[in-house]
Amino acid sequence: MKIAMTYDLRKDPLYSSLGEEEAAEYDSIETIEGIENALKKLGHQPERIGHIQNLVQALAEGKRWDLVFNFSEGRHGRCRESQIPALLDAYAIPYTFSDALTLAYSMDKSLTKRIVSAHGVNTAPFKVVEKMEDLFPLHLPFPLFAKPLSEGSSIGIHAQSCIRTPAELKEVCAKLLTQFQQPVLLETYLPKREFTVGIIGTGASAEVIGVMEIVPRPNMTEGGYTLNTKKNYEKYVDYILVDDAEAQIAAQQALLAYRVLNCRDAARIDFRSDDKDIPQFLEINPLAGLNPLLSDLVILCRLKGIAYDELIASIVHFASERVPQAAKHELSTAGV
Ligand SMILES: Nc1ncnc2c1ncn2[C@@H]1O[C@H](COP(=O)(O)OP(=O)(O)O)[C@@H](O)[C@H]1O
Ligand SMILES: [Mg+2]
Repeated sequence: MKIAMTYDLRKDPLYSSLGEEEAAEYDSIETIEGIENALKKLGHQPERIGHIQNLVQALAEGKRWDLVFNFSEGRHGRCRESQIPALLDAYAIPYTFSDALTLAYSMDKSLTKRIVSAHGVNTAPFKVVEKMEDLFPLHLPFPLFAKPLSEGSSIGIHAQSCIRTPAELKEVCAKLLTQFQQPVLLETYLPKREFTVGIIGTGASAEVIGVMEIVPRPNMTEGGYTLNTKKNYEKYVDYILVDDAEAQIAAQQALLAYRVLNCRDAARIDFRSDDKDIPQFLEINPLAGLNPLLSDLVILCRLKGIAYDELIASIVHFASERVPQAAKHELSTAGV
């Protein structure tokens, strides 16, 4: 199949004004090359497109593809991840991963928590702070955890994110509101184990790949799985596959959340356990990172014995169920 690749390259001149933290969600050239090589090995003809401006231009020039491998995070607006999927829907071009609606509500961690908790998924009590005046009355006991409402890759998460006093609360929230220009999500602090669950498939065929526990090493002094910890994971954390009763709860709850949120092809869902050892849903990543070495979903697959190319093949397999028959026929007659 002819497959366009849409993504946001960290080194793109469009993003040169962004600081390291702000650009953390965007992809490295290693990720683009990894996906491109995997697609070629599968017998496809990938074409690098990049961000939405390039896609708009290519569409205006009349270019079309059988499938778009979309992993673009987008730049502007609350629905930044949905912009390419919405555009592709308008042109009836199928693409990988979830559609515009799922990507839109998953960008808002409070909205996602409301949806999944209405369907029986455990998630910690929370409050959305749009401005400093919203802080009090608080109605949540300390300790709390504060993070930007609509970021990923642990952007805005630091040692100070765990908050124990009203003074710390005011300081951290003021900083987050100013730096990220979006509401702050205040959540009950979850002190116990951390899991991330990989899921593959669409609808009834969706299944859990595995549950990976993120185990902090004694030298990890930061209060959570921060951007710095993620970048230096080999130094600060151990990743282990787990299947005990607590991990199984995370797996069941992740699959439920995946289905409730109408996710497609693959995603990664994060949990942390409360003081009673019950896993609580933190957030879903319907566009999980796909760096061949560093991304959690890829590491989880590797621990399960699933090679990177196999993961990409599975994503394309599920996405190609949405490709019209003619394009798939062309692929099968090409001997793939
Ligand atoms: N309520 C919480 N209590 C304790 N730690 C938390 C809480 N929420 C987030 N964290 C920590 O911050 C990390 C990033 O939070 P998450 O909600 O997954 O956002 P991101 O989209 O940046 O990955 C988590 O992996 C976890 O270590
Ligand atoms: Mg996360």
